[in-house]
Amino acid sequence: MPAPVRFGIQARLMIGIALVASVLVSAIGWYWVRFEAREQSEALQHRQAQMAGLVARGFAGPVWNLDASAIDSLLDAVMADPEVQSIEIRSTGLKVPPMVRTRATPPVEPVVREFDIQHEGEVPGADSAPVARARLVYTREQVVERVARTRDFVAGLLAAVLLAVLVTSYVLVNKLICQPVVALGKMAQAVAGGDLGASVPVERTDELGVLAQQFNTMSAQLRDSSQDLRRSEERYRSLFENATEGIFQANGRGRLLGLNRRMASMLGFASPAQALGLATRLRRMVQLEGPEYKRIARALIRHRLLQQVPVLIATREGRQLWVELSAHIVPAADGQGLRIEGMLTDITQRRLAEQELTRHRDHLEELVAGRTQELTRAKQRAEEANQSKSRFLATMSHEFRTPLNAILGFSQLLQMDDSLGGTQQGKVRLIRDSGEHLLSLISDVLDMASIEAGKVRLQPAPLDLHALLDAVCDAVRLRAEQKLLRFGVDLDPELPYRLVADGQRVRQVLLNLLSNAVKFTDHGEVVLAVRVQAQQPGNTRLHFEVRDSGIGMDPIQMARLFQPFEQVSDEARRQGGTGLGLSISQQLVRLMDGQLRVQSEPGRGSVFSFELAFQTVS
Ligand SMILES: Nc1ncnc2c1ncn2[C@@H]1O[C@H](COP(=O)(O)OP(=O)(O)OP(=O)(O)O)[C@@H](O)[C@H]1O
Ligand SMILES: [Mg+2]
Repeated sequence: MPAPVRFGIQARLMIGIALVASVLVSAIGWYWVRFEAREQSEALQHRQAQMAGLVARGFAGPVWNLDASAIDSLLDAVMADPEVQSIEIRSTGLKVPPMVRTRATPPVEPVVREFDIQHEGEVPGADSAPVARARLVYTREQVVERVARTRDFVAGLLAAVLLAVLVTSYVLVNKLICQPVVALGKMAQAVAGGDLGASVPVERTDELGVLAQQFNTMSAQLRDSSQDLRRSEERYRSLFENATEGIFQANGRGRLLGLNRRMASMLGFASPAQALGLATRLRRMVQLEGPEYKRIARALIRHRLLQQVPVLIATREGRQLWVELSAHIVPAADGQGLRIEGMLTDITQRRLAEQELTRHRDHLEELVAGRTQELTRAKQRAEEANQSKSRFLATMSHEFRTPLNAILGFSQLLQMDDSLGGTQQGKVRLIRDSGEHLLSLISDVLDMASIEAGKVRLQPAPLDLHALLDAVCDAVRLRAEQKLLRFGVDLDPELPYRLVADGQRVRQVLLNLLSNAVKFTDHGEVVLAVRVQAQQPGNTRLHFEVRDSGIGMDPIQMARLFQPFEQVSDEARRQGGTGLGLSISQQLVRLMDGQLRVQSEPGRGSVFSFELAFQTVS
């Protein structure tokens, strides 16, 4: 609330103007009245002198002649002038009483004039002798009255002027100064009361108009800067409120000034307000032991900065919490004392993990020893299992093949027996075909098992590549021709003749791929192509490719292609196969440091290819 105005501008101005105007008006009035009094007085003396002249000339004759009646009428005539108070004629040389006329009323400030009355002699030019002495007294009554009237008039006039000056200046001061100042005051009060941006209408161009304009600008700037301040405050508040670290502020004596939500929740309070309501001292809030608190406080005072100091504190419910404390000291905003600003990071989990790690490190050797024992035992078990598997495979191989060979041998003998009829021959052929098929199935399964058991060892030996390829083609050609397919062989002219390879495995892979190509192709062709990829003395790198124009595969089918027992085509085509061929081929190619690849499109055929490096021999 502003202090009440005791002597306002208007009152002071009015008092000042009234004083100056009064002094001025009084001086003018005084001078005017004095001037008038002097004028009147001089005029009276002038009239008295004239009257004296008349008396001197008019009385000379009658006094000389002692004409009493004439003198009487002359005296009456003089007394007709209201300003004459009295007249006295005293004869000189004659003992006669003086002739006097005087008014009954007492004179006011009488003006006395005495003079001689002279009678002109008979002879012109002769000296005239005084015949009487006259005393003419004038009263100033009329002069005083006139001066008083003038004074009254002047006083009235000057009072009116003074009043006019006062009224005019009051109105002008009120309109030109007081009202704008009051409006500015109200606006300043509104701004002080929070209405930033309040303004007053600017109606004039004088100093107060300029002042109002400057007030408006100031108010708008205050509003703008307050908005900027609020926005920036909001940003910082959001940063403070939503920080994932606990943040607090305390005064130099450890009294809490504020904390954010994270810190409140970390310490088990529902909100910062609740935390501040229940504990105002930092030490009480984090439940630190006295000596520990003092140690930290001393370090903070000495260094003015603490960084990531691990501290064990307790929450409101008594739960222990490891935190990392970073704090610094800054001067308080009001310039008095100091303020502590700090940040707490909950490192309980990290601390537990570290402790766990330390424990583990301590027991690592024990653990390693234990695990090594376990591993040794497991390895023994695996080796034993592997050995029994190998034994089982060897037994199976022998046990299956021995009776099958007997079946195949005897069916071959029976086929040669001419005494059997056509129907019986057909049945014997069926027995032989089924037996052969079973034998190939068993050898596939055994192959797969041996590969998985790591039992397959390559047996590289010098061989004739062309002979090998011829044998492979011969084995497939017949079946291709039976299906009316064109069987093409596309060999690179640079193809070496002799090289070192496990011929049986290369043959097995090519046969698998070619028999698949024939099996899954109904029209068109099946081609085996072999190209030289790179040739160096003693070394060659060959690219094998088996392509067909058969049923092809989609990407989903191709993804399952190389898994054991996977047959991806439709039911009708799965007959007579186990789904092991490609799986075995892939494993064998890998064994020879190659990779079997496939490109295919449903309905447009497939291309299977792989590359192998060989030593060449001349
Ligand atoms: N050239 C090809 N064209 C289309 N599909 C093929 C071709 N080659 C293989 N496949 C698909 O891949 C599957 C797996 O082939 P894989 O050679 O492993 O088994 P299989 O030929 O069915 O049986 P097995 O070879 O054991 O007699 C086949 O069943 C077939 O669906
Ligand atoms: Mg196959």
